[in-house]
Amino acid sequence: MTDELFAAACAARDRAHAPYSKFKVGAAIVGESGRIFTGCNVENAAYPEGWCAETSAIAALVMAGDTKIIEVLVVGISPEPVTPCGGCRQRIREFATPTTTIHIAAPDGVQQSMTLADLLPQSFGPDNLS
Ligand code: THU
Repeated sequence: MTDELFAAACAARDRAHAPYSKFKVGAAIVGESGRIFTGCNVENAAYPEGWCAETSAIAALVMAGDTKIIEVLVVGISPEPVTPCGGCRQRIREFATPTTTIHIAAPDGVQQSMTLADLLPQSFGPDNLS
């Protein structure tokens, strides 16, 4: 499954619209249906209006009717693996649990796998509102 996720994230990354940073990112997410949803970063001439690859992938998951994130893989173009930014950690949290696995990849493959709790400890999530 990780190989499939990696290939899907790389294909998404290659579609990124990143003319300003030139830093293309792809994300692939497994939803509870077992389907894989992908996304890329989409930048904007009004810089703050751009958004991240994870955000695109989460939107695809929601639009397809899934409500849970089972696994995430993020890949960029740099040899340094891309970890989800702070905002995306919280967006992932909305649909995941602290034990959800996040794979961090470089162009030649997954470098590290960690839990969401490693990336976002003591997180605030939907349960805090119930
Ligand atoms: N970026 C992502 O797509 N995901 C992340 O988690 C980190 C950053 C994008 C946003 C921007 O288009 C580019 O990478 C440079 O920050």
